[in-house]
Amino acid sequence: MSQSKKIETLAELVRERYGPDQQYDVLDNAVVRHILKHRSVRSFAPTPLPANTVQTLVAAAQAGSSSSNLQVWSVVALQDVAHKKQHAIWAKDQDFVRQAPLFLIWLADLSRNRLLAQVPEGVRIDGTDYLESVVLTAVDTAIAAQNAVLAAESLGLGAVYVGAIRSHIRAIAKDLRLPPYVFPLFGTAIGYPADGLVTHIRPRLPQAAAVHHEHYDASAQKQAGQSYDQTLDAFWKKQGIEHPLWTRHLATRLGNVSQSGDERYALREVLQELGFPLR
Ligand SMILES: Cc1cc2nc3c(=O)[nH]c(=O)nc-3n(C[C@H](O)[C@H](O)[C@H](O)COP(=O)(O)O)c2cc1C
Repeated sequence: MSQSKKIETLAELVRERYGPDQQYDVLDNAVVRHILKHRSVRSFAPTPLPANTVQTLVAAAQAGSSSSNLQVWSVVALQDVAHKKQHAIWAKDQDFVRQAPLFLIWLADLSRNRLLAQVPEGVRIDGTDYLESVVLTAVDTAIAAQNAVLAAESLGLGAVYVGAIRSHIRAIAKDLRLPPYVFPLFGTAIGYPADGLVTHIRPRLPQAAAVHHEHYDASAQKQAGQSYDQTLDAFWKKQGIEHPLWTRHLATRLGNVSQSGDERYALREVLQELGFPLR
C-alpha cells in the first residue's frame, strides 16, 4: 500500500494543489475531492490486478463524451511481460512501464468508422482525412483515458500517462499491427502503488494564469508564473529533490526540439506514412 500522507479535506487538497499563498473557493463533494487527490504513480507493486480491471476501465473510458458520438479511439491492453518490456524501451526506457501489470496504449482510431460506415452511392468518406479529424480523435481519446485513470485511482490503483511512446510511433504501429488511419497517442501504466511509495500532490499554476473572463488576458501570467516557480520549488525542496525552476524547465522541455531527432517532432510525416492524408 502507498504510504502517502493522507490528505483528505478539501481545504488541505486545495492547499497542496496550489501552495499556501493561493486561496480558492471550491465546492466540496466526494468526486471533486477524488479528482483533486490525483498524483501520478511511477512505481508499482507486482500484485496482480483483479481480472475485471480492463473491462472496468474501458467502461469508464467509453462513458466519456465523444464528438458526434463517433467514438474514434481504441485501446490495446498489454499485460505480457516480454511485450511490456519492449514497449518500456520504446517509451524512453521508463522502468515503470515494465513494472506496471497493465500498460494501456491509447489509439487515435479513424479506421474503424471507415470500415463500419454504410456509404450510399456517390458519397466518399473523406471526413477522416483532415487535420481536424486528428484533433477530434486526440480530444476523444484523452477524455476516455482520463475517465479510465480517475476510475483506476478510485479503485486504489495508481496510474501515469506515457507520452514518450510517440518517440517510436512507427515501431509501435508495426508491433501492434495497426491498420492505416490509426496511431498510438499515449500510454497509461496502471497498477497498485509499490509498497511504501510516497507520492505527493504536484502543485499547479495559480488559476489567474489559466482562467480568463470574457476575453483572454495575459496580464496576470508573468506574476503567476513567478509565484508558481516559488510554489513548485518549495514542493521539490520538501522532497529533497534538485529541480530547476518551472519557467526554466519550460525552456528545457520546449527548446531546440527540432535538433532532438525525436520521431514525435516529425509527426506530420509519420502520420502520412500511417495513412492519414492530413488535408
Ligand atoms: C499526455 C501525457 C503524457 C505524459 N507522459 C509522461 C511520461 O512519458 N513519463 C512520465 O514520467 N510522466 C508523464 N506524464 C505525467 C506528467 O509528467 C504529470 O502528469 C505531471 O508532471 C503532473 O504530475 P501529476 O500527474 O502527479 O499531478 C504525462 C502526462 C500526460 C498528460
